[in-house]
Amino acid sequence: MIFRKAEFMISAVKPQQYPEGIRPELAVSGRSNVGKSSLINKLVNRKALAKVGKTPGKTQMINFFNINDEWYLVDLPGYGYAKVPQETRMQWGKMMQTYFRLRENLKGVIQLVDIRHQPTDEDRLMMEMLKVNNIPVLVVATKADKIARGQRPKYLKIIAESFKMSDWKTIIPFSSEDATGLQELNQAMDDIIFP
Ligand code: GTP
Ligand code: MG
Repeated sequence: MIFRKAEFMISAVKPQQYPEGIRPELAVSGRSNVGKSSLINKLVNRKALAKVGKTPGKTQMINFFNINDEWYLVDLPGYGYAKVPQETRMQWGKMMQTYFRLRENLKGVIQLVDIRHQPTDEDRLMMEMLKVNNIPVLVVATKADKIARGQRPKYLKIIAESFKMSDWKTIIPFSSEDATGLQELNQAMDDIIFP
């Protein structure tokens, strides 16, 4: 798909704030600092549409971006940042549960993991949450530029195993730095949004 238009719509914490209407949407999920906002900027080819942070926990609300006046791309707040207080974690959990349960526009989630690291318990919980809500998932391994091409299958297999995926080849290695996987991701998103 071509990104003709990409603009920030709204930051939401509760359903009343979600954009109205029936446009389909895709959300980007993953640990704090995994590269969600960077991936969104790369996809839409804009330097700073989604805010990229040096400090983890930059994105704390559900951010909706209008794409081509046709669908929404959604930047979800990251999880797993150690310094976040328990109270904030609880709020995050409630906010996510509500979003996944109620949001009928949501057609799929792009679940990001760092290619270098084995998924955490929280990553697996997130995958579980998506599964019980019957939300299609696209697993993307970010920061692929950090691992030599020939070494990547080894890392992708570890991720697939941890997520109990039958085929590690369905994981898309991606880099916001050198655009690895950009075409594949774009195509896979297109297939979900416009089946
Ligand atoms: P939160 O909003 O805190 O949940 O983080 P995020 O998942 O949105 O991550 P963000 O895009 O802000 O990126 C975090 C850090 O990782 C930044 O310093 C980015 O420059 C870096 N980063 C993101 N993607 C890549 C990548 O593909 N390769 C490399 N080398 N660095 C990346
Ligand atoms: Mg972010």
